[in-house]
Amino acid sequence: MNVLMVCLGNICRSPLAEGILKSKISTSNVHVDSAGTGGYHIGNAPDPRSIKVAKEHGIDISSQVCRKFVVSDFDAFDIIYAMDKSNYGNIIKLARNKIDADKVKLLLNEISPIDNEVPDPYYDAEDGFENVFQMIDQACDIIAARLEK
Ligand code: 4NP
Repeated sequence: MNVLMVCLGNICRSPLAEGILKSKISTSNVHVDSAGTGGYHIGNAPDPRSIKVAKEHGIDISSQVCRKFVVSDFDAFDIIYAMDKSNYGNIIKLARNKIDADKVKLLLNEISPIDNEVPDPYYDAEDGFENVFQMIDQACDIIAARLEK
């Protein structure tokens, strides 16, 4: 099972989602990656505030490298989680068919099916990153429990 976490920049939310889900998965047949729908930070490490909040929770995301979402990700991944509705819409626009589109889900719908979003913390103070960490962590608990079965 291959899981892709997607946000806009691939430097704040989706690197956290990648690191958090990886930290909860022990089986080697689950592969987790992340990407951004925007190309502003390609090749960069995650935002220092995401690296810091992950580290505070015992997770090292510092070696991740930002990349942009590509259409072939629809072939490489079984589930594509968008952090917010704008990311969701950007990914759906690239879908070639219903099989592609059906792979795309809002991450927080794993917690409750009411289309909640992981807010973009880029312009927030550091406490925004802890809030984002907690939301993603809850969703990843549910995803990991299912994938480990
Ligand atoms: P992310 O946050 O989508 O969670 O990685 C952002 C990072 C950078 C920008 C926007 C959102 N930006 O506009 O540069």
